[in-house]
Amino acid sequence: MPCQKRLSSALPSSLLLPLNFFYVQSKCNLNWKRSSGKKGGERVRCSAVGVGVGVEDEACELVNGVELSIGEGDDNIQAYLFKAVKNNNGAGVLLLSDIFGFQDSATRDFAYQVACHGYNVLVPDLFRGDPWEKGRPKPMFEQWLASQDPQRVANDIATSTKWMVDEFRAAGISKKLGIIGFCFGGGRVIDVLAADQGACFSTAVSFYGTRMDLAAASKIKVPVLFISGDDDLLCPIGVLSKFEKIIGNGSRVVIFKGRGHAFAHRPGSTEEDADAEQAFTLMRNWLHDGLLVNS
Ligand SMILES: *[C@@H]1O[C@H](CO)[C@@H](O)[C@H](O)[C@H]1NC(C)=O
Repeated sequence: MPCQKRLSSALPSSLLLPLNFFYVQSKCNLNWKRSSGKKGGERVRCSAVGVGVGVEDEACELVNGVELSIGEGDDNIQAYLFKAVKNNNGAGVLLLSDIFGFQDSATRDFAYQVACHGYNVLVPDLFRGDPWEKGRPKPMFEQWLASQDPQRVANDIATSTKWMVDEFRAAGISKKLGIIGFCFGGGRVIDVLAADQGACFSTAVSFYGTRMDLAAASKIKVPVLFISGDDDLLCPIGVLSKFEKIIGNGSRVVIFKGRGHAFAHRPGSTEEDADAEQAFTLMRNWLHDGLLVNS
């Protein structure tokens, strides 16, 4: 447990590998989900839009993104780190991707949208360079999934967590870490929190998690916000209310009517955009309350 041992092997910032730097300026969060290709200093603008209540202090500002190589030897993995530049609030958020991996543009867009509101967001490669790809034949899916050893995935998440602790917590920048995940990653959020027992992570958001282990729920020590659609075969909402009850501690389930899998980070229509926006605001308020208020 990295948070208990407080290992002091923090990597000096000079050793981090800045493989590609890119800056993003986004004034608000309207239309961001439809934009892409923000690398290479391109600036993105969109019209102003109200963003929830109580968090106006966290404006969307400049983000610094860098690709990292973290962990050593067999533990070595790739990751993206997105850091708020001007408005950095010191809080770290670990983002666990869906099956399409850490380099997928929808996931990357979402991660830096979180970062632009003040956070340091780490998005690790959970699949060791072999994410699921859209063009692959569906019957191969189970085989692909079976090749992603759950123990190896858990270990890579632990490597990421330890990196964040060394980088943010031990350095005194932040006392608290949050964790969020989509689909595959949303299910892993549950496993991580059950193993963590409240040591590293103090709040969590699970978006339409898959393969979630209800037996793990009773071990979770921090409140979890579950966001899902009621038209999602991969994440039945009945199970979410069970999680909410067992975890307790202020946990909450928010269901979007008529929405299917992945609507919040991969909206496919104008109607979905509106709900995705609302889901983002809910998540933002949740992180704000869990990581910044009373910290
Ligand atoms: C509730 O969550 C907080 C973190 O937000 C944690 O410190 C506390 O121990 C939790 N309480 C229980 C009973 O799990």
